[in-house]
Amino acid sequence: MAKPSNTIQPPAIPDILQKAREDFPILKRTVNGKPLVYLDNGASTQKPQAVIDVLNRYYSNENSNIHRGVHLLSVEATSAYEEARHTITDFIGANDDSEIIFTRGTTESVNLVAHSFVEPQIQAGDEILITHMEHHANIVPWQLLCERTGAILKVAPIDENGALDLEAFKNLLSEKTKLASFVHVSNAIGVINPVAEMIAAAKEKGVPTLLDAAQSIQHMPLNVKELDCDFLAFSGHKIFAPTGIGVLYGKRALLDEMRPYQGGGDMISTVSFEGTTFKEPPSRFEAGTPHIAGAIGLKAAIDYLQSIGLETIARYEEELLKYATVQLRAIDGLRIIGNPAKRAGAISFVMENAHSHDVGTILDTEGVAIRSGHHCCEPLMKRLGVSATTRASFSFYNNHTDVDTLVSALKKVSILFE
Ligand code: ALA
Repeated sequence: MAKPSNTIQPPAIPDILQKAREDFPILKRTVNGKPLVYLDNGASTQKPQAVIDVLNRYYSNENSNIHRGVHLLSVEATSAYEEARHTITDFIGANDDSEIIFTRGTTESVNLVAHSFVEPQIQAGDEILITHMEHHANIVPWQLLCERTGAILKVAPIDENGALDLEAFKNLLSEKTKLASFVHVSNAIGVINPVAEMIAAAKEKGVPTLLDAAQSIQHMPLNVKELDCDFLAFSGHKIFAPTGIGVLYGKRALLDEMRPYQGGGDMISTVSFEGTTFKEPPSRFEAGTPHIAGAIGLKAAIDYLQSIGLETIARYEEELLKYATVQLRAIDGLRIIGNPAKRAGAISFVMENAHSHDVGTILDTEGVAIRSGHHCCEPLMKRLGVSATTRASFSFYNNHTDVDTLVSALKKVSILFE
């Protein structure tokens, strides 16, 4: 079959994004003697100088434990940490700061909901509803919960393009469903789910929802009040902040009823050997010394992102993805995996005769960083009939030259594995 045409104009780069690329020092380095082309943003994003500087300033000037000291450093660190929480409240449109819990990342946020919200109220035979395109972090915690409780994991199907069967999802919601937990944007194939409709359908049946926003929060504006999800999870390192910090948003009325996730310091009101009482949310869910610098770095990353504007980013990235999709489709032996109507962040593909790890290794010699493998989505890979893919995942600092370098490296792979 003739390959489709690759004629498409590169997208115009808004000035603000052109300048923003300069803010990421790592993008200036070389890899294997070639300029770095970083297309593994789905795995982790790079950090702007503003975030690096804030971390440096924090460790040089304020480093101290929080909520515990009367000395100035502790007071300053506490106020920086709590200001970070407030920035997140505003960023996602939560009601107030008590709805923002700092976690290690999306994975811990999902586990927290499983342990503290679902487990105390679930009975054998009750159900958790997810979709076929979930990351392992939104599958395995529910499987473990089902093993412990006798609950049943229900999976809403997807079609061969990777799109959710929305009617099937709706039909799987019932009075037995104790939570519907689903991804906003698939990390593996970039499909955007119709989450507003999914949340509305769940609400109609009285089913609480957890939205995995790990791969959407950096690509598009999100507002938890408009979405009306009950919980939302994301990771700092995928939104230009450090690793080891993440967020769980939860509606205050639900958080109030939830048991602690971990026990330890800073989450208690009183402790005696006869019994312990717990603080109100969010402290109840933040046992031990948290990742203070991580939270402060996350605030800096969000401030930075907002100074650019997520609408600008979303518009530009959509054009860049279109440009990349047209170019990739025209490469001999390359097949894009997952062709959803709406895509963000990532394009996954396989190459005839070449394993994705070989593709990744060859691209690396050209300075191009992508991810190869199952992307922590083994059930999705199986459904789409592949064991692994090569994934190029984008951020606003990528440009058409990055795409062109990827494409010319892939043409070399195509010739090599003919
Ligand atoms: N969840 C990350 C990814 O998609 C690690 O690559």
